Amino acid sequence: MARLEDLNARASALEDCVAWQSLREHAREAESWSLAELLDEPGRFGAFSREFDGLLLDFSRNRVREETITLLISLARERDLADWVRHLFAGAAVNTSEGRAAQHMALRSLGGKTLVPGGEHFQAAAADELERMLDFADAVRSGAYRGHGGKRITDVINIGIGGSDLGLVMLDQALRNFRETQIRSHFVSNIDGVQLADVLDDLDPDRCLFIICSKSFTTLETRLNAESAREWLLHNLPEQEIGRHFVAISTNDAAMDRFGIASQNRYRIWDWVGGRYSLWSAVGLSLAIGIGGARFRELLSGAAELDAHFVSAPLDQNLPCLLALIGIWNQNFLGATSHAVLPYDQRLNRFPAFLQQLEMESNGKRVTRDGAAVQWATGTVVWGEPGSNAQHSFFQLLHQGTANVGIDFIAPARGTSRFVGQHQQALANMLAQAEAFARGRSADAVRADLSAAGRTRHEIESLTQHKVHPGNRPSNIILLRNIEPRTMGMLIALYEHKVFVQSVIWGINPFDQWGVELGKSLAVRVAEALDSPEISDQLPGIGAAIRRWRRD
Ligand code: F6P
Repeated sequence: MARLEDLNARASALEDCVAWQSLREHAREAESWSLAELLDEPGRFGAFSREFDGLLLDFSRNRVREETITLLISLARERDLADWVRHLFAGAAVNTSEGRAAQHMALRSLGGKTLVPGGEHFQAAAADELERMLDFADAVRSGAYRGHGGKRITDVINIGIGGSDLGLVMLDQALRNFRETQIRSHFVSNIDGVQLADVLDDLDPDRCLFIICSKSFTTLETRLNAESAREWLLHNLPEQEIGRHFVAISTNDAAMDRFGIASQNRYRIWDWVGGRYSLWSAVGLSLAIGIGGARFRELLSGAAELDAHFVSAPLDQNLPCLLALIGIWNQNFLGATSHAVLPYDQRLNRFPAFLQQLEMESNGKRVTRDGAAVQWATGTVVWGEPGSNAQHSFFQLLHQGTANVGIDFIAPARGTSRFVGQHQQALANMLAQAEAFARGRSADAVRADLSAAGRTRHEIESLTQHKVHPGNRPSNIILLRNIEPRTMGMLIALYEHKVFVQSVIWGINPFDQWGVELGKSLAVRVAEALDSPEISDQLPGIGAAIRRWRRD
């Protein structure tokens, strides 16, 4: 196995790869391929789809042939993917700019699975903390843990942002059918106080539990919301009750001391877990209270199964690897400039938002691991909405606009509501849209339609171009057997590893996020300026306008 230092040193040599150059040539050929024709080739679905235990990736509606996949896999080999995966799972400091391991897999390798990523050290720490966290979650659910005056907890409020919020909100919705509890969950992330005020309006202080979820405990949004929540509680309850009504997940003991978090209500997270990869840890407490410890373990074991698949499946059968390589093909060779994620089940409503952080905070990098400016597009721009709604808003642009956008359709084969017939319609729409994007509608077909509808020759000529769908627009379909904790664990891990594979190809570090620091530190200075009487001198222009309107 190549040493990590040697791998890092090769990070900026992407364009020297033989496969990269061959793919460039190959992409010129691909420009003339028609997806409609490719889809009519016998055996297309079998050749360009892969299934892993409740998760199916259909990438047949991409402009790929067998040779494309072979070249992409050669590229992964030339970029030493296998060695990178070994280093990742062995707990090496793959987050080079911070000198840290990235061991989120250790958080879920529990329960007797064969894979023990990163060795005993990471796994043992994670297992102990998980046990404590799940015991606490179950105590809250059962009513064994109670609020002031012995009242049952009815509302759990997670205060956190980014990786300490998005995955939890997403899974809170995705796994709603598994809650089996009357306890309500709430999420407060925004700095402006609006979310917090709205949530507090409905709460009984004796019955609420605040979870301060912040790896650093220094994040301004979380600190302000936590302090305001604390003040609100102190208006209603004696100070000694803070310890009962607040718990925290953090690495920062000193800040938890200052806040008054009781020692038994602190849960640890480690610097070897990145925020956006942390939902598997005690960060998942609000979710564990919602779905219970047993279901939470199913979520972890689904992800662990996908980890085992990622480590052991050959590259041409490896779902995260293929998903990543198709993304690279579309973005770096066929010119896609963004990627739409379109779930066809309302339970996955927040999945696109979750993926935005996972993909864009991880791979939105402009220098390679060895510090050179990248010469290729990295970090896919991810966006999306549940597909039904999207059909009636931005699909027009996807079908007939000029933007070149890759697509992931995501849906469970079995729906999550009791209105089974409606889910069938959702699936039908998803499949129809994928076909429409791929095959389009030619001018000849449009003319034939118009003529069959009795339109005049003039009408046919003036309307045809408006109704043409060029097609050839690529998409993946990711089908889950159903939405349950295990399959959600698999789905999230699928994307986590996709991000890692892409980072290896692009030669960038997916585990740091220096780009969010500048705005944060500037905001501190601007906040001071907004408070100062000389606001208009310190913040000319907009500062004067803010002062004027705040005074009125
Ligand atoms: O601002 C980005 C970020 O650092 C994310 O990476 C992280 O998930 C989020 O802030 C929250 O950080 P913390 O958990 O330390 O409050």
